[in-house]
Amino acid sequence: MCGIVAYVGNKNVAPLLIEGLKRLEYRGYDSAGMAVVTPQGIKLVRSVGRVSVLEAHAASDAALQGTLGIAHTRWATHGVPSEANAHPHLGQSRSGHTIAVVHNGIIENYAALKTWLTERGHQFYSQTDTEVLAKLVAEFYEGPPAARDAAAGGGVANGHGGLEQAVQAALREVTGAYAIAVVSNAEPHTLVCARKGSPLIVGIGENSYIVASDASAIIAHTTQVFTLDDYQVAKLCAGPDDTVNGTRGPWSVAFRTTTIDNVPVSREVSALEFDLQQIELGKFKHYMLKEIMEQPEAIRNCLRGRIDKREARVVLGGLNQFARDLVRAKRFILTGQGTAFHAGRIAEYLFEDLAKVPARAEYASEFRYRNPIIEDGSIVVAISQSGETADTLAALREAKERGALALGVVNAVGSTIARDTDAGVYLHVGPEIGVASTKAFVGQVTVLTLMALFIGKRKYLSDEVVRSYLAELERMPDHLERVLTQSEAIGQIVSNYVRRQNWLFLGRGYNFPVALEGALKLKEISYIHAEGMPAAEMKHGPIALIDKGMPVVFIATQGSQYEKVISNIEEVRARGGAVIAVATEGDARIRKYAEAVIEVPAVPEPLQPALTVLPLQLVAYHAAVQRGLDVDKPRNLAKSVTVE
Ligand code: F6R
Repeated sequence: MCGIVAYVGNKNVAPLLIEGLKRLEYRGYDSAGMAVVTPQGIKLVRSVGRVSVLEAHAASDAALQGTLGIAHTRWATHGVPSEANAHPHLGQSRSGHTIAVVHNGIIENYAALKTWLTERGHQFYSQTDTEVLAKLVAEFYEGPPAARDAAAGGGVANGHGGLEQAVQAALREVTGAYAIAVVSNAEPHTLVCARKGSPLIVGIGENSYIVASDASAIIAHTTQVFTLDDYQVAKLCAGPDDTVNGTRGPWSVAFRTTTIDNVPVSREVSALEFDLQQIELGKFKHYMLKEIMEQPEAIRNCLRGRIDKREARVVLGGLNQFARDLVRAKRFILTGQGTAFHAGRIAEYLFEDLAKVPARAEYASEFRYRNPIIEDGSIVVAISQSGETADTLAALREAKERGALALGVVNAVGSTIARDTDAGVYLHVGPEIGVASTKAFVGQVTVLTLMALFIGKRKYLSDEVVRSYLAELERMPDHLERVLTQSEAIGQIVSNYVRRQNWLFLGRGYNFPVALEGALKLKEISYIHAEGMPAAEMKHGPIALIDKGMPVVFIATQGSQYEKVISNIEEVRARGGAVIAVATEGDARIRKYAEAVIEVPAVPEPLQPALTVLPLQLVAYHAAVQRGLDVDKPRNLAKSVTVE
C-alpha cells in the first residue's frame, strides 16, 4: 500500500530512486513521482501509471540532478490516480522555502487540518490527505538550523531546528498512520523521515542513507539498517564538508533519532537477513510463479532446526518462555486478514485436533471493533506475512490491551507486528513480492502445525504420534516438489474453463479453508468470480448457481470425509457442473466422477492443506496468465495493506 524511497548521499539520486521504486512497485502501482533537491531548487516529476512511465519522464528531464531526493509509488486512498494526486506533495513556508513530502498511510484528521491551513493562506492542488502534511511542515518551517548550531561544533546533524523541528511539530498535530520522508530546498544535505503505523526502514550505506518502505529497496545498497518505532523521527545528513557533524572531511554522514517531542532515542543497527538474489525474478516470468515454485525450499527453511525427531520435540525457541501459558490456555484467537486469515481457519482445526484447545479464527478488522471478550487464559495469535497489516496490528493491540498474551506468526523479520507481540515464530520463507500470497500461506500453515504439536506434546499427544507427524513434516518439501511438477498439466486443465466467469471451490474439514483460499487466489489475480465454502454448505443455497459446465473445484483427498465429498461431487454432476478434483495420488475411483484430476501425495489430514493449496495456486496463476493479466500487479490491489 504505497511505497516510499528516499536517499541522501553522494550519488546522483534520480536513477537510484527509480530503481528503488521498481522494487517497491508491488506495494502500489497507480501513479508514481519523485522530488530531487537540485541547486536550482526542488524539481518534481510525477506521472500516472507504472514506475516505467515515471522513469521515461525522469530520463528526459536534464534538470533532475542532485544527491538528495524522495520518491513514491502510489495505491490510491484519497483521490483518484492522477498526476495532481501523485506524490511528492509540496508546501511553501513563510520563509520562502519549499518542502516536499512522500507519505504512506492515512491522515485521519486531514479535513480539519486542511481548513486550518487554508485559513492560513495555503493553497491545495490535490485531493490527497498527504498534501496537508506538506503544508503543515511548511507552516512550521522557519528555515535551516541556525548557523551557530553548526559552528558550535555540533554540526547540522546534532543541531536542532530547521526541517527536523518542523516535521516534529507537524506530526504532533496529526492523527492517523504515516511513514514519511521530507526534504527542503534550504537543507540540501538533510533528509527527515518519521513513522507511526506504516513501515519504514533506514539503510546506512557508504557515505549515504537510504530510506524505504521495505528492505527490498535497500538491499542493493547496504545490509545495515535500523527501524523507527511509532512517533519517532530520523534526521539523516550526508554532505561534503563540516556541515554534517562538525568534523572536516571530504564527505561526512551523521544521523540522529528523536521522538516527535524531540526526546533523543537510540536505535539499534542490525543486518538484513536476505540477499538480492531472493528478490530478483531470475528465470521466472512472474514473482507469483517464482514463489509458488520456491515453496519446497521455503518450507525446508521454515522447518530447519525446529524438528527434533529423536526427542519427539518441536523446537520453537521464541515460545519456550511462554510454554506454560500455551499449555494452560483456555482459548486461542487466530487473527489476520485475507490469506493469513485462511491460515488461521486451518489452525482452528489444528489446535482443536492436535492441541485439544478451543480455537477461533477472527477477521482482525471485525475482532478489533466488536468489543471482544478476552477471558483469562486467552491467547491471541496475529498471523501476517508483511507484519504491517493495519487491521491485524489494531486487533493485536486491542487484544493486548484487554489482557491477552499476544503471539505472532510473521514472515517479515523486525516488522511492526513482530515487534508488538509478546513472542512469536517467524516463517523464514524469504521475502514475498508477488501480490498474491502463496509461500507465506504454506509457511503460516506449517508454523501453526508446529505450534499445535508444540502444545499437544505437552498435553495429550504421545511421543509416538508426535514423532510420526514430525517425520511426515520432514517429507513435506519433497511432496510439495511432486505437486509442482504438474504445473503444465494444470495449465492445460485450466485452459478448458478459463473463459467461465463463475467458479466454486469446495472442501470439508481441514480442506474447507483451502477452498476459501483457492477462491481468493482465483478472484484476486484472474478477476474470475469465485466462492469457496464447505462442500456440504453448497446444497443449502449456492447449488442454485450450478449450471452446465460451471467449474467446481473439489478438494477430495482421502480422509475421514472422503465419502461425503464424493456425495457432494455427485450433487454437482447431477446439475451439469464440471468437476475438477484435487485428489490423493493413486485414487482411481475419483476419475469416474471428475472431468479433471490433480494429484497430491497421501499425507495425514492435518498436513493436507499445505499440499492441497498448491494446485489451487497454480490454477489461479495459469488462469491469470491465459487471460493475459498482470499476475504480479492485479488491479486495485497492493501487497501490504497498511490502512484500516
Ligand atoms: C491475498 C493476500 C492478502 C493478504 C492480506 C494480509 O493473496 O495477499 O489477502 O494475505 O492482506 O496480509 P499480511 O499477511 O501481510 O498481513
